Order: sequence, then structure tokens, then C-alpha cells
Amino acid sequence: MKEKMIPAFAKANGGLFGSTEKADIGDAYAKMAEEKIDLMGWADPFMPDPSMPDFIRETLAEEVMKESAAHYTAPVGSLRLRQLLAKKLKQQNGLDVDPMRNIIITPGSDSGLYFAILPFVHEGDEVLIPSPSYPNNFLDVEIMGGIPVAVELKEEEGYQLNVSLLEEKVTERTRMVILTHPNNPTTVVYDRRSLEALADFCIRHDLILVCDQAFEDFTFEHEMVTPASLPGMFERTVTVFSFSKGMGLSGLRVGYIVADDKVMDTMYANAVAVVGAASTSAQNTVCKALEHPEFMKVFEEAYAYRRVKAYEILNSIPGVTCAMPQSGFLCWVNVSALGSSSEIVSYLVREARVSVNDGINYGAGGEGHLRIVIGVYRDNDKVIDALYRIRDALCRLAEAKGIA
Ligand SMILES: Cc1ncc(COP(=O)(O)O)c(C=O)c1O
Repeated sequence: MKEKMIPAFAKANGGLFGSTEKADIGDAYAKMAEEKIDLMGWADPFMPDPSMPDFIRETLAEEVMKESAAHYTAPVGSLRLRQLLAKKLKQQNGLDVDPMRNIIITPGSDSGLYFAILPFVHEGDEVLIPSPSYPNNFLDVEIMGGIPVAVELKEEEGYQLNVSLLEEKVTERTRMVILTHPNNPTTVVYDRRSLEALADFCIRHDLILVCDQAFEDFTFEHEMVTPASLPGMFERTVTVFSFSKGMGLSGLRVGYIVADDKVMDTMYANAVAVVGAASTSAQNTVCKALEHPEFMKVFEEAYAYRRVKAYEILNSIPGVTCAMPQSGFLCWVNVSALGSSSEIVSYLVREARVSVNDGINYGAGGEGHLRIVIGVYRDNDKVIDALYRIRDALCRLAEAKGIA
């Protein structure tokens, strides 16, 4: 069967799921849960503990019982949800959009990301991806027959965008830049100055920007600028959003994309054929969440506490460095002095009974790094305890390697 596939699709080989034995996601993960290994590799708030506040749980239960649950919303999503989102986009993102023209609801933002890239990438087109970056950015482009071009951001520059690095990689065949902002895995929130430089770069080279803002909600002391709000950018940017990370509602599978009318004209037509919004009950439930976003404070407080503790604990390990997380609930940790990241991931499963992500999954610049999800579990102490076990195991390894 595989030989009958489009070659680009056939060679995709699972992406992040291709190395499940390295403890990322998949069946191997379920097996580790049974073995009581702490799973700190899945970016799902408070997973596997309860994350849904009672009022949302009740709304969901009511919505599932309604007759409407059995029926479609508009294929581009419920109008009530799009109206609430237009309000949120104005307040939070500085985007003045028409709910009738500029928003499509998607079943989670992974499909939104795919759908945002799809219309623009022709066979052989190059797509610049500042890296390390979310693995699907590479995989999606490959499946479409495009060529993902990693632009490795520099750790010593705090992984901030550096347009001169993009300039080095741009060619006649470059069609698009895909930005994960804030970044997963580095957590970096791109600053206004570098986003303005990126906007200028996209305009000068006539490029499309796809900006994935799944992690936009918790950026602590960092200003979160939505690139589509910068002058000249709305008409060339497709922005992807999610209810999974900030609101912790990943199981409802709701995301949305926002773009200019001209882009949406075609996307609306295809949304009917391909995307089909999300389930009616899920859409109605996230409306309630948007009307009462105060519940997100629980997440924010937990992450604010955990990031400081994680920073202290991880930086106390000889040979290990970790910048203060700038957003969300991840840590990006340099363990290169202790060995390859694949070795360290396996070592931590054995010696600390904790499973984290191998940096090699995140493209250029990922080797020698771990992504640790500190947003798992509801109980702060459980996370801190796992971090101490990581510290103890890595301290033993450092000692064995003679690293003081
Ligand atoms: C950067 C980023 N974008 C998008 C997604 C997809 O999330 P969802 O499909 O649940 O909205 C993820 C999930 O891990 C992510 O990390």
C-alpha cells in the first residue's frame, strides 16, 4: 500500500510518533504510566489529573444532553463562538476582525495549523522554520511536498528571532515562514523588535507568515505581540489558536484560525469540504469558558510557581543549564555536557523514573536538550518531587563523568 501513496506522505514516517520507544507519546507512554513512571513529556495541562472547572464540566454535560449535540454547526463554526472570539481577538491580540469573515473553527489547532499551511505550499516550495520548533511545522510541510528549511536560532541569543539568520536562508523558492510563538519547546516569547523585523522581512520578500499561538496565554513578564496586528501583516498572516493549552481543554478539540478576507474566501470553501469545525457540544462549552476566563488563574499560579522552582532545581545540576521559562509550562534544558539527549532521556526513565522529551524531535538545535513539561499534574509537589529525582539522577551522572 505504501508504494501507492504520494511520496511526500509515504516518507513522513510518524514524525514525533516515529520514536515512541524514546518515550515521547503513544503506546510506550501508556505502558510507562502503568509502570508508575512520571510522564513529563505531554504538553497537556495537569495531565492526567482533573483540569476542568465544575462550571465547564456542567456546561459540557448539559450540552451533550441537548438535541443540538446531534447536529452540525456551520462548517466554519458556530456564529456565537466566532462572535465571542472576535471580542477576545480585539482585547487580547489587537486584531479587529469580522466574525462572519475572518475566523474558522477547527477540530483542535493541529488541524488548523495544517489547514493554514496547505493552501500556500506548492511542490518544492521552501518554508523557513525558526528552530528548535514544534515538530508538526516540519512534518506538515513535508507531507505537502514542500521543503522545510530550519533556521537555527542561537541559544546564546536566548533563541530570540534574528532576521539576519532568516536572510541567509531565503531563496527564490521561499514561500512562507512558520513561527511557533511563544515557542514550543524553548518557551521564548518573541519580542516586539524582532517581530517588527520579521514583518519587514516577510513584506520585503513577499512571504506568507503562519503563526501558531497555541501557547499565547501565559507569558508572565513578557509582552505577547500578535504579528498579524503589526502594520502590513494581517493580509499576509494566518494565525492559529487553540483552547488546549491556556484553558486546559485539549480533550474538547477546539482551535481556530484567523486570516484576511481574501485568504478566507478560499479557506471557507475548503472548510466545508475538509475541516467541518468541531463538535457542537464542544463549541458551545468553550463559549462558556470564553465568557468566564477567570478560571485560568489556577493554571497561571501553578505555572508561575513551578517555573521558578524548576529553574532553581535544574540549574543546580553541574553541567546543566536552563533559562527561566518565558511562557506556558515547559522547560528547555541543555544537558549536552552530560551526553546525547537520547541517552539522557533513557537514563532518566531508568534512574529517575521520569519520562521527558528528547530535544532531537524539535529540529535544528534540539540535540543535547530535553523538553520537560512542568504543567503536568495538579499538585505542585508532585512535579517538584519529580524534578528533584531528575536532579539527583543527573548529579550522579555528572559526578561519574567528572563534571563538578
Ligand atoms: C505549538 C503547538 N501548536 C499546536 C498544538 C496542537 O494542539 P491542539 O491540536 O490540541 O490544539 C500543540 C500541541 O502540543 C502545540 O504544542
